[in-house]
Amino acid sequence: MTNATILIVDDEELIRWSLREGLKEQGYEIVEAGTGREALDQFKHGADLVLLDYRLPDTDGLSVLRELKKLDPDVLVILLTSLVSVETAVEAMKLGAYHFANKPFNIDEVAATVSRALETTRLRREVRQLRENEARPYTLRAIVGESATIEALRQMVAKVAASPASTVLLTGESGTGKDLVAKTIHYSSARAARPFMNITCSALPEQLLESELFGHERGAFTDARMQKRGLLESAEGGTVFLDEIGEMVPALQAKLLRFLEEKSFKRVGGAADIKVDVRVVAATNRNLEEQVAKGSFRSDLYYRLNVLPMHLPALRDHAEDVPVLTAFFIDLFNREFKKRISGVSAAAESLLKGYGWPGNVRELRNVVERAMLLAEGDRLEVQDFGALKTALGNGDPFELPPSGVSLDDLERSLVVQALRRAGGNQTKAAALLGLNRDQIRYRIEKFGLTATP
Ligand SMILES: Nc1ncnc2c1ncn2[C@@H]1O[C@H](COP(=O)(O)OP(=O)(O)O)[C@@H](O)[C@H]1O
Ligand SMILES: [Mg+2]
Repeated sequence: MTNATILIVDDEELIRWSLREGLKEQGYEIVEAGTGREALDQFKHGADLVLLDYRLPDTDGLSVLRELKKLDPDVLVILLTSLVSVETAVEAMKLGAYHFANKPFNIDEVAATVSRALETTRLRREVRQLRENEARPYTLRAIVGESATIEALRQMVAKVAASPASTVLLTGESGTGKDLVAKTIHYSSARAARPFMNITCSALPEQLLESELFGHERGAFTDARMQKRGLLESAEGGTVFLDEIGEMVPALQAKLLRFLEEKSFKRVGGAADIKVDVRVVAATNRNLEEQVAKGSFRSDLYYRLNVLPMHLPALRDHAEDVPVLTAFFIDLFNREFKKRISGVSAAAESLLKGYGWPGNVRELRNVVERAMLLAEGDRLEVQDFGALKTALGNGDPFELPPSGVSLDDLERSLVVQALRRAGGNQTKAAALLGLNRDQIRYRIEKFGLTATP
């Protein structure tokens, strides 16, 4: 970081001179102050790093350090001292001093310390910048949809984000937005400036998952050559997203439950209890209640996670949102591909609304992306959704089970279901099956079904 501005605070002109000359050579801007008062005034004009004498005419270095940190908690301060007591050194470190330089100092050493400190500043700023960029897409508005279900979901996300630590369980099919909601909860909460850590429980074998989550001590197992902090520790103050929690093995479920209850855990092979403050957001596309009944998921963990359940609806259950979601993705890919697609034709819109979306919003996103890559005109037409049409028209609507099926039973079951859905209205039931009234009457008699429900 050349061009950096360094504030030198010392009442001795000679010391300021030697530091100034030594550091100017490295290409830094130098500003100076002879007293604590002047130092704070100068600092308000901006400085990337402060070299601060411990003994000042009007006050002492520690008080100035405290004030500087109030103005900018991230400022790096190197204390210049001749002799300090251990207590003073400890106090200075607690206040956030970056380093000490003992007087009389070697200017090359000071320059090296300054350069390392500025690198730290640069990295900190970069991390902050990256986090802000990462967070930008995850405001509440990122959850698109005007249906009552999505509106309720957004309100719930806002409430949960405002509650500091509560554990959340997200359920829903694949592609319904569980990742999106987890990130939105984190980035809309007071934890936003702290890490968001993400782990997919099904992606790792048990032992690895355990040490990824909880960390391990050196020698805890054969490959543990060094101590390692786990995700829970690294996420201190932030959020840990445990995706596909339904795949976690029972032994780890027990350890996770203990952590959720006590907010502390032990590293693998460790004896010390480590306390951390993180919010856990868990997600699954499985039915956990069924897994509990089957015995593959601990019921106590399920109840502990289920304090704040949020269910993300399948897209086919809020198909009225297909048009706004489509518009949202068109906008997104217009920017990404530098295109100017204005929307979809009426025919294409009804095709999209009528489709079943087994892959949910993720599938819609992919379908729009593909259509926009192929589109010739400035509107998306039915033919741009070619892949979708095949899925609708040419695929097999029902898959024959390996053991086969009784066509008679299937026909009977479908007629019964159609009548039930049509409230007993034969004309409507016939329409659901692509039959006319005579054809459905014939089947009602054949199967001995009563004509009215
Ligand atoms: N309501 C929504 N509004 C906008 N984008 C959504 C919505 N739901 C899902 N998405 C997008 O769909 C894709 C799949 O969502 P994701 O969160 O990964 O689903 P899941 O984790 O449930 O499988 C992502 O690109 C996500 O941003
Ligand atoms: Mg996901």
